[in-house]
Amino acid sequence: MHGAGTKSFDIAWVREQFPSLSLQYRRHGSAFLDGPAGTQVPKQVMDAVEYYFLGANANTYGAFLTSQRTNEMIVSARAAMADFFNCDPNEVVFGQNMTTITFALARAIGRELQPGDEIVVTTLDHDANVAPWRALEEKGVVIRQVDIHETDCTLDLDDLKGKITAKTKLIAVGYASNMVGTINPVAEITKLAHAAGALAFVDAVHFAPHGLIDVKAIDCDFLVCSPYKFFGPHMGTLYGKREQLEKFKPYKVRPATNTSPECWETGTQVQELIAGIGAAVDYIAALGRHCDPRVKSRREALAAAYRATHEYETGLLARLISGLETIPGMRIFGITDRKRFDERCSTLSFRLGDHHPTKIATFLGERGIFTWDGNFYALNLSERLGVEQHGGVVRVGLVHYNTAEEVDRLLAALHQFVAN
Ligand SMILES: Cc1ncc(COP(=O)(O)O)c(C=O)c1O
Repeated sequence: MHGAGTKSFDIAWVREQFPSLSLQYRRHGSAFLDGPAGTQVPKQVMDAVEYYFLGANANTYGAFLTSQRTNEMIVSARAAMADFFNCDPNEVVFGQNMTTITFALARAIGRELQPGDEIVVTTLDHDANVAPWRALEEKGVVIRQVDIHETDCTLDLDDLKGKITAKTKLIAVGYASNMVGTINPVAEITKLAHAAGALAFVDAVHFAPHGLIDVKAIDCDFLVCSPYKFFGPHMGTLYGKREQLEKFKPYKVRPATNTSPECWETGTQVQELIAGIGAAVDYIAALGRHCDPRVKSRREALAAAYRATHEYETGLLARLISGLETIPGMRIFGITDRKRFDERCSTLSFRLGDHHPTKIATFLGERGIFTWDGNFYALNLSERLGVEQHGGVVRVGLVHYNTAEEVDRLLAALHQFVAN
């Protein structure tokens, strides 16, 4: 394999890194098509967590070995996430998960807002990028919600422009939809926000396993993502432009530092998992080096990894869509045009006739094929598409450790489901 263009992707090498992929269920292999709700974890992440417990387990800033190791580990994980985001390490904040981070940040930003100030959210977003902003309605903040084009589940940018006013203080937008895979033009939206004197907050949780994030190129003020969606442990991370992290004041205990980014990390962090975050970034970089041994820096290695996985995932997605389109009663949500695959990632939702999504997911689950059903907290979208009251959709998530055989197994099982 190898080669910059990754003509063939070394899927065998990838799968060797993920021990849980060999899980057997009722004499079936397990097909993990549930990645959008949390991906599997490579061995090096597990090793990093174990190593932390074995040799570095202590709280921070003590005058002894394990505490010093903890400090060093956090510095190193922050540097890894800085490469991941393309920012400075002191612009990286660790937290419990994206939802908790966003509620805390929204509350801190809300301190500075006046009744009548406006925030723009979207119909395409996970509720974790809606509810924390809506919570500010209690203070008199006005929330404006941008609609979608129903035919391809893309954001209606004209509607977005119309929703921005002189009172807009922040635009909260997703990088990619966790239900239908649409990728939003976040750099363009950030420009619109800044032109109106507003902040841009990007939820990159769903995009992170599929594409290289570059906060400098986007120029957003804040961006969040959750390592458990990109092969790491269950935590959340925030990028905040330094001047913004310093401008806003987090709610915190008095003895804790006022220096950013640490002042945003309230209470004792899940240090063992921060060790795992650094290892997750290093796994992606190792994949990049495996795909293109010529890369030098970790950032270049991350870029090489995402180039390779994007091409591979796009191939799987095309195979999935071609197969689904042959199944009677199939309704796929979002972009299906192969020429527009750069506008979406490899997460796909469908409905099949009038069948309840839970029934389909259960049928697949019994055959060792793990998919999600429901709304995945993309509540606005589920309601807008008229599926909320019917159990939502079935979601298939393809990430770089999935295979063409798994896609074929899924398609064969769906044909069997329809025939039953
Ligand atoms: C797009 C998106 N945003 C936000 C979240 C919430 O993330 P967390 O579980 O880290 O709070 C999710 C989780 O599924 C998501 O998919």
